[in-house]
Amino acid sequence: MDFRLRGAEAGDVPDILRLVKDLAKYEHMEKEVKLTEKELLEDGFGDTPFYRCIIAEIKGETSSDGPSHAPTEATGVKGAPVVGFAMYYFTYDPWVGKQLYLEEFYVMEQYRGLGVGSQLLRHLSELAISTRCSGMMFVVAESNAPSISFYKRRGAEDLSQEEGWRLFRFDKDSLARMAAPAEE
Ligand code: COA
Repeated sequence: MDFRLRGAEAGDVPDILRLVKDLAKYEHMEKEVKLTEKELLEDGFGDTPFYRCIIAEIKGETSSDGPSHAPTEATGVKGAPVVGFAMYYFTYDPWVGKQLYLEEFYVMEQYRGLGVGSQLLRHLSELAISTRCSGMMFVVAESNAPSISFYKRRGAEDLSQEEGWRLFRFDKDSLARMAAPAEE
């Protein structure tokens, strides 16, 4: 299979949301996906993009080329089937500076094991190095053993184990409570 990587464009938003939902389904958390195409479009392709994506698509084919692709595949802005993606953004660590944060990483099941994921990581690594990032951060579910092995084989360190960091979140209710003016 011949594929290529490219930066996402606004027209890729339907495919991005499809893949986000696929990954959420893989993680048995599909009900947690609340975003719509409208929000993804505004947040990624407005004046201040909050995320970026690298798209993996099959090269030199369009959806009309024949039945070789599963019917669930959509076609990207160039008409080629989109089979995987990486969503990322930049964060800042005051100790070591810029970091690339890998938020989503997914290749459709029937296209796994063909090198798409490795090429996406290679692309992101080159980007991180060329933008003087000191590392690439990401979170993996404890239950996602295949991906943990995949990352570890490529040299990833497990900071929860090695440095004891714990992941926290204030949800919207907590934020609202903190944001509300104190009662007299
Ligand atoms: N499915 C998955 N992996 C397979 C495979 C298959 N059918 N067949 C072989 N593999 C092996 C490959 O040999 C390769 O081994 P290596 O690490 O020794 O190189 C590795 O698994 C896959 O490498 P590659 O083909 O470059 O990656 P990929 O295109 O399969 O993408 C993921 C990797 C993790 C993005 C993909 O497996 C995926 O989408 N998984 C489900 C979602 C997920 O867990 N995402 C990460 C969330 S943190």
